[in-house]
Amino acid sequence: MTPPPAPKTAIHGHKAILLVLVCGFLPIPGIPSRAADSGNLSEAKGKRGMVVSVSPQASQVGLQILQAGGNAVDAAIAVEFALAVTWPEAGNIGGGGFMMVHPPGQRAVCVNYRERAPQAATEGMFSPEDGRHTHKIVGVPGTVQGMEAAHQKFGGLAWKKLVMPAVQLAESGFILDAAQAASINGVLKSKATVEGEFQRELIRVYRKPGEKPSDWKAGDRMVLTDLAKTLRLIAEQGSAGFYLGETARLFVEEMKRGGGLITARDLAQYRAVIGPAVQGKYRGYDVYGPPPPSSGGICLVEMLNILEQFDLSKNKRQSVDNIHVMAEAMKRAFCDRARYLGDSDFVSIPPRLTRKHYAKKLADDIDMRFATPSVTMAPEIDIQYESPSTTHFCVIDQDGLAVSNTTTLERGWGSRIVVKGAGFLLNNEMGDFNWYPGHTDIFGNVGTRPNRIAPGKRMLSSQCPTIVAYKGHVVLVTGSPGGRTIINTALQMVLNVIDFKMDLPTAMRAERIHHQWLPDVIQYETHSGMIDEATVEELKRRGHKVSPRRAGSYQGDAHSIFVDLESGEFFGVADWRRDGKALGY
Ligand code: DON
Repeated sequence: MTPPPAPKTAIHGHKAILLVLVCGFLPIPGIPSRAADSGNLSEAKGKRGMVVSVSPQASQVGLQILQAGGNAVDAAIAVEFALAVTWPEAGNIGGGGFMMVHPPGQRAVCVNYRERAPQAATEGMFSPEDGRHTHKIVGVPGTVQGMEAAHQKFGGLAWKKLVMPAVQLAESGFILDAAQAASINGVLKSKATVEGEFQRELIRVYRKPGEKPSDWKAGDRMVLTDLAKTLRLIAEQGSAGFYLGETARLFVEEMKRGGGLITARDLAQYRAVIGPAVQGKYRGYDVYGPPPPSSGGICLVEMLNILEQFDLSKNKRQSVDNIHVMAEAMKRAFCDRARYLGDSDFVSIPPRLTRKHYAKKLADDIDMRFATPSVTMAPEIDIQYESPSTTHFCVIDQDGLAVSNTTTLERGWGSRIVVKGAGFLLNNEMGDFNWYPGHTDIFGNVGTRPNRIAPGKRMLSSQCPTIVAYKGHVVLVTGSPGGRTIINTALQMVLNVIDFKMDLPTAMRAERIHHQWLPDVIQYETHSGMIDEATVEELKRRGHKVSPRRAGSYQGDAHSIFVDLESGEFFGVADWRRDGKALGY
């Protein structure tokens, strides 16, 4: 095991002297403020606050809330609602997610606002013919209740103040950038929308007025009148403006239109849960991730515990040995994901998964010369496909209160069903359950018990908003979209900063790899050629299947914040893989 990174002594702002007295030398990784090759990354520095999200307007909303005296949770709530307007492929009020909150000097907690199965759901309710754009696949949304729960526990400013910026964006409209225009044009043109039986409302709401065919351009103004009306109800009534009254009535009407299962009672009964985050220790740092029903925290900590047994920093980040050992750790954690993980209100999860002695056993089983074939680890299980469309953002305020938040409709634009008259999109999160009980095959059907459907159960997630802290002080806030790749993206952001001491832009730029146990293949990004031919050949020789992502296809979108505890500065970087904006002050 390698020692913690080179010691440094200073920390954030005015608390520096006190903390040095208490802790002595702090082994924190320092980063230069900017990487030479940071290209078109959006970067920002600040000492008082930082917001990084996929949407410039949403980041701006978050920054304004911080500047108006709001704390990081206030800003995060405002960003979440703004994203429902300005990044509709993943931002939402009809979906769910996980918000990690790290109050300074304390342990991180998680606001679990994951969707739930409706009460009428049954284990065998889906068949192979079921599509992903139906009313039946919608889970009971958690976002609005989750934001309300976060506000009740941590909020400083009035609720209305946090929701109104989103109302205004929807009501008065916002100017599209190229990424937003492309996303909307893409969904409007896609076969699933054009030919969809229940996608007319999506077309009505999102098409460009007076233009046929609709073709949005950067610089156009988009107005979302029905969504503004719904958001206003939420601003005025809190979560009752969504789960009860007019919005709930329109929601249930929509369900009836397409044979969906969600009832008024399902909506009224939805509650988010605030509880401890999964906590691990990695080379002296505390690493926090979300608990079940997300697999993110447990898998992240399990992989880090395995990797702690190896001296990664003695080799280059993309060396054969490092890729080999990372892939082997990923395989083992994802195998356990399929075996054991699901909603812990319904299944019991072995506590050993995040323990060091268990990881040591797994690490001892890794042969540096040969890949372990996935099928020999649990030959009867395979994993179903997930698509990449979710969004992640992070916020930190002047007191060091940090938020790492991932939210999703599941696939891009979710079920593509917009609730008629209410203007918001519905998720297709029921797709994250194991659909066919007992039927597991190498083609992607998974039937393992922990993640089978049950009424009121939350489906297993891979979302992994992550916070790394040292002695109670946040050092790194990260996370990503990307289905199962999310956990591996978060893992590599942590390794890049802690083991390889990369500055944040370099950590962001580094090519990412992904292995999810099955299919038994290492996927890797190719944008800068850091994983060269010789490396690929040697990985193959060790028995790995290796598959490059095609040019232009990337892994994740890891908007992140690094805190230089020495200078007290926040560095925000928006991942260049999708457009985003870091704003600090
Ligand atoms: O919760 C999950 O794991 C998935 N529904 C996330 C889907 C996703 O990340 C798609 N993303 N880019």
